[in-house]
Amino acid sequence: MTATIIDGKAIAAEIRQEIKAEVAALKEKYRKVPGLATVLVGDNPASQTYVRMKGRACEEVGIHSVRPTLPNDATQEQVEGLIRELNADPEIHGILVQLPLPSHLDEEAVLNTISIEKDVDGFHPVNIGRLAMKGREPLFVPCTPRGIMVLLERAGVTLEGSRAVVLGRSNIVGMPVSFLLLHANATVTICHSRTRDLPSVTREADVLVAAVGRPEMVRGDWVKPGAVVIDVGVNRVDDPSRKSGYRLVGDVAFNEVKEVASAITPVPGGVGPMTIAMLLQNTLQGFKRALSAEK
Ligand code: GUN
Repeated sequence: MTATIIDGKAIAAEIRQEIKAEVAALKEKYRKVPGLATVLVGDNPASQTYVRMKGRACEEVGIHSVRPTLPNDATQEQVEGLIRELNADPEIHGILVQLPLPSHLDEEAVLNTISIEKDVDGFHPVNIGRLAMKGREPLFVPCTPRGIMVLLERAGVTLEGSRAVVLGRSNIVGMPVSFLLLHANATVTICHSRTRDLPSVTREADVLVAAVGRPEMVRGDWVKPGAVVIDVGVNRVDDPSRKSGYRLVGDVAFNEVKEVASAITPVPGGVGPMTIAMLLQNTLQGFKRALSAEK
């Protein structure tokens, strides 16, 4: 079997077009546009790239964006002070603090400062707490997990009653996507670095989500024939044949696994583009909520 490739790039482009049209229609009607603030503390090159990409995506769909930056040695008070200003700014409907923060800062306290109405990353303890509970609605769902669920939906995957295995228990992906899969009535197993005999667990999965940050860890014989495989990994590996000297690979050995799975996301062009599309969608959602609160 050769798997269907789930084209996250195309799906994300479609979603961005839908957002662009809706932003234009709301602008026409209310003379206002959604606004997103991405806060960058320090000079982590990967974070700088992500923040730049998020700003560009906003521009493309007509969302106003600001990108305040603070130096590496910013104090807790400075970061929280900036967030409080953004909380009070009526032109801003989404606030995202790019992670990781420099290690001297208290991440939980920073995330706790963001108004839950503007928490487009969905990382505020109240939003995460609601996501973790049955029958509670977070105001925002974290972007990468939400993007994964949209990909599964668009690929026509039935989650109800399925066995889902998630590799990785990070706050940003593994943990929240596990809750979303559970809410969709999958039976969910979360694996991590201490899991014994990992391949025997992953082979049980109808849906396998890999989010561990280990290049090509999931091999062909780790996957049940016909499973759906979502690869969240973005890993740089040396490749002297490239001008850059590296290429990007996922957590899944794509060429092996595509011969076993029924559907698979590529890296790049799978989950990655969905994350930004969901951020735009969350910002639009925050804006619409603010508009209805004004009425
Ligand atoms: N760092 C890696 N992924 C993310 C994300 O989705 N949001 C934020 N704020 N930081 C990240």
